[in-house]
Amino acid sequence: MSFPHSNRDTGNTAVVGLQWGDEGKGKIVDVLTAGHDVIVRYNGGANAGHTVVVGSERYALHLIPSGILYPDKTCVIGNGVVVDPEKLLEEAEGLRARGVAVGGNLRLSDRAHVVLPYHKEQDAALEDYLATKTAGDRGTLAIGTTRRGIGPAYADKVQRSTAIRIGDLLDRNYLRERLRVICRLRTAELQALGVSAAPLDADALAERFADLGDRLRPHVVDSVYFLHDCQKEGRRILFEGANACLLDIDHGTYPYVTSSNCSTAGIHSGTGVPGTNIARVLGIMKAYSTRVGAGPFPTELNNELGARIRERGREFGTTTGRPRRCGWLDLVAVKYSAMVCGATGIACTLFDVLTGFDELRICTAYRLADGTTTGRFIPDAKRLEGVTPVYETLTGWSETIRDASDRAALPAAARDYLDRIEAIVGLPIEMVGVGPERSQTLVTA
Ligand code: IMP
Repeated sequence: MSFPHSNRDTGNTAVVGLQWGDEGKGKIVDVLTAGHDVIVRYNGGANAGHTVVVGSERYALHLIPSGILYPDKTCVIGNGVVVDPEKLLEEAEGLRARGVAVGGNLRLSDRAHVVLPYHKEQDAALEDYLATKTAGDRGTLAIGTTRRGIGPAYADKVQRSTAIRIGDLLDRNYLRERLRVICRLRTAELQALGVSAAPLDADALAERFADLGDRLRPHVVDSVYFLHDCQKEGRRILFEGANACLLDIDHGTYPYVTSSNCSTAGIHSGTGVPGTNIARVLGIMKAYSTRVGAGPFPTELNNELGARIRERGREFGTTTGRPRRCGWLDLVAVKYSAMVCGATGIACTLFDVLTGFDELRICTAYRLADGTTTGRFIPDAKRLEGVTPVYETLTGWSETIRDASDRAALPAAARDYLDRIEAIVGLPIEMVGVGPERSQTLVTA
C-alpha cells in the first residue's frame, strides 16, 4: 500500500516576526512569494500593517496577504484571522484602483471571525477608560492598542455565544437574529464604560453586514480543505505571520500583547495546517528594536540615538501613524522568539538604518534586580520591567550599504555585526535588507 501524502516535506515556509512587530515582514514575504504558490495569513487582523515597495509604488496592506501583488499567486485569509469586512473590501478596491487584480486569487475562510463596529467602540472605550485610571506606580492599565477592535473580536470568539463568523454574514436572517441579542448586550456594556452612544441598531447592522457578506461571498471558502487540497496538488504554501512573537497572547510580554497567537503557534490553529508540514521557518528581525504601544522594552533608547533610529528607519506605524519606540538590538528577546517559533533561519531587515553610528550595541543578557545575569527572556511584563540590559559594543560603519550586492561586499564592521548575531542566536542569517526596494535584499545563505 502506498501513502502518497505521507511525505511532509512540502516546500512550505513560515515567516514570523521575532520582535514586537514591524520587522519588515511584508518585504521578506514579497521576496519569498516568487518561490511559493499560496500565501496565507493565519492571525491578527487590520492591526497589522505590511508595507511593500515595488518600483516607485508603495503598498500598505493590513488584511490581504502581500502576495496579492503577484497575479499568479493565491492568497488566503485563514480561520485564525479577525476580519473587518469594510476594511477588507476597501483594501481590495484600493488595490484594484492601482491595477492589482483581486478576484479568485483571494480566498477568505468561512470560519474567520468578524470585527464589527461595536468591537472597535469597545476597544477604544476600554482604552480610554483605563487611560484615565492610574493603577499604582506603573501608570495605567491601558495597552495602547491599535483600536481596530482586535481584542474584543477575539474575546467574542473565545466567548462563543456572542461571536459572528464570515459564514454567518452569508445568511441574512440568522445574522439579524443573532445581532438583535448581541446588540442589546453591547449597548449596555458600552454605556457601562461611559460611552453615551445611542442604542445599537441591530437590524440596520445586520443589513449592512449581510450586504458586505454578499460582496465577500465569491471569496469565501472552507480554507482548511482548500489549503490541504493545494498541498495535495503540490502547491507550496507561505504562511505570513502578522504582528510578532513578543506580542503573542501566550508567549509575548503579557499583558502588553495582542490577542492572537502571532508566533508560529498560531499557524496550526489559524489554518488547520499542522506544523509538521512546514520545513522552513524564517524569523524576521530588524537590525535594532522597536515597539509601539505600552509595555516593557529593556533596550529602549529615550535619547538622541533613539530619535535618530526613528528618523532614519521611518519608524512611524503603518496602521496608526504612531511614532515607534526605538532601541538597540535585543538578542535575548530574539533568541527566545527564534526558540519558541522553531526558526530555521533569520532575515535581518533595515540594516542600512544603522549606517553612520560610531558604535553599535547589542544586548546579550539581562541583569536582574538581585545582581545576577541571565540569558533567558522573561515573557511577563512586570518582571521584564525590572531588568537592565547587558551590552556588547561593536564598531559602526559609515559607508553606504544600499548598493551592496552580497554579504562579502559589506564593510567589515557590518559583516562583524551580522556574524555576532549568528553566533549568539545560533542560526544563519539567510537574508539582509539594505534598503526598501525588493532588489535591496541580499540573499546570504
Ligand atoms: P491590538 O492588537 O490592537 O490589540 O494592540 C495590542 C498591542 O499590540 C499594542 O501595543 C499594539 O501597538 C501592538 N500591535 C498590534 N499589532 C501590531 C503590529 O502589527 N505591529 C506592531 N505592534 C502591533
